[in-house]
Amino acid sequence: MRKFIITIIIVFAYLSCSDKSSDTTSVPIKQVLNDKFLMGTALNENHILGTDSSGIKVVKDNFNAIVAENCMKSVEIHPLENSYDFYRADKFVEFGEKNNMFITGHTLIWHSQLSPWFCVDENGQDVPADTLKQRMKNHITTVVKRYKESIKGWDVVNEAFNDDGSFRETPFYNILGEEYIALAFQYAHEADPDAELYYNDYSMNKKAKRDAVVKLVENMKSKGIRIDAVGMQCHVMLDYPSIEEFENSIIAFAETGVNVMITEMDMTVLPNPEKNDGANVDTSYEYQSKMNPYTEGLPGSVNIQWTNRMLDFFKLFLKHQEVITRVTMWGVTDKDSWRNNWPMHGRADYPLLFDRNYQKKPVIDSIINTVQKYN
Ligand code: XIL
Repeated sequence: MRKFIITIIIVFAYLSCSDKSSDTTSVPIKQVLNDKFLMGTALNENHILGTDSSGIKVVKDNFNAIVAENCMKSVEIHPLENSYDFYRADKFVEFGEKNNMFITGHTLIWHSQLSPWFCVDENGQDVPADTLKQRMKNHITTVVKRYKESIKGWDVVNEAFNDDGSFRETPFYNILGEEYIALAFQYAHEADPDAELYYNDYSMNKKAKRDAVVKLVENMKSKGIRIDAVGMQCHVMLDYPSIEEFENSIIAFAETGVNVMITEMDMTVLPNPEKNDGANVDTSYEYQSKMNPYTEGLPGSVNIQWTNRMLDFFKLFLKHQEVITRVTMWGVTDKDSWRNNWPMHGRADYPLLFDRNYQKKPVIDSIINTVQKYN
């Protein structure tokens, strides 16, 4: 009997070792997805300045594409008209180069985190159209040219549309009209003809916004303006949007002939104040403790819900791997996520692939198993 039990144990041990599909612990997700799409993450200041060494290790081990969470936005990189601050951006790019990662520049023209001087004169009045064009050109040319050898793709314009598909009334739009979008792409292309150029936005599942972006891409293409991909930010919730609605947008963008990128993925588990479903960084609600229910950890049932839905999103991305060229998480670990502070400051959220202790979440192995099963 003893012999029999030992034999069973040995056979069992052998089977579990030889079952390749379940031996996922040592294979990094970036490697498993290598021939499907790039697996990216956003780096914050602590990664870039090297103060979060555990975070850096997670980045190096698991991701092959990076984007800067903040340091390339105009307020950071170009704080005064005649003064740039490349300190962090240079370090960020150096890190990507050293580790052989695909580096995306985020973002050239955006109304948020916009340098205060950019669109106004010394009296705070809107500058004339020609002045703004010249400023856009200077900004885009200087930044894109500086990183020409290293940055292979740029989020040229970010969030130009409202959710109803109308143009967002940003200072750029108010002064230049919709032409500012094509101009930005043109300036970026002139600065680096080899760079890929992207349009990036949130709530891209919404039909009105989807239609507006499709029209924009078609319009640009008909004028011969380079656009390589549409970036879908993907700041999603446990119950919104539906996978189907999101998929319809992937299909619609792909049909215009451009690639699709999932550029800022995270999934909040927190209650949603007043049906706020976008990612408008200006939205802000006063703190309420009842809106911060998981300070002691995530209940198992919510964890399972989160894991299943994150896996469903990755299954969707895998289904459309022919057109999806990159999936980027908006942050490394849960403790880094902007979702802890947006749209309400000081909450504990759990939206990313690594937990507060830098440990990978079970969903990573589920994604890996899914890929290996269908390979
Ligand atoms: C967010 C950053 O994560 C925050 O640290 C910052 O305070 C505000 O911006 N859409 C974008 C990103 O394109 O640049 C935003 O990043 C999130 C929404």
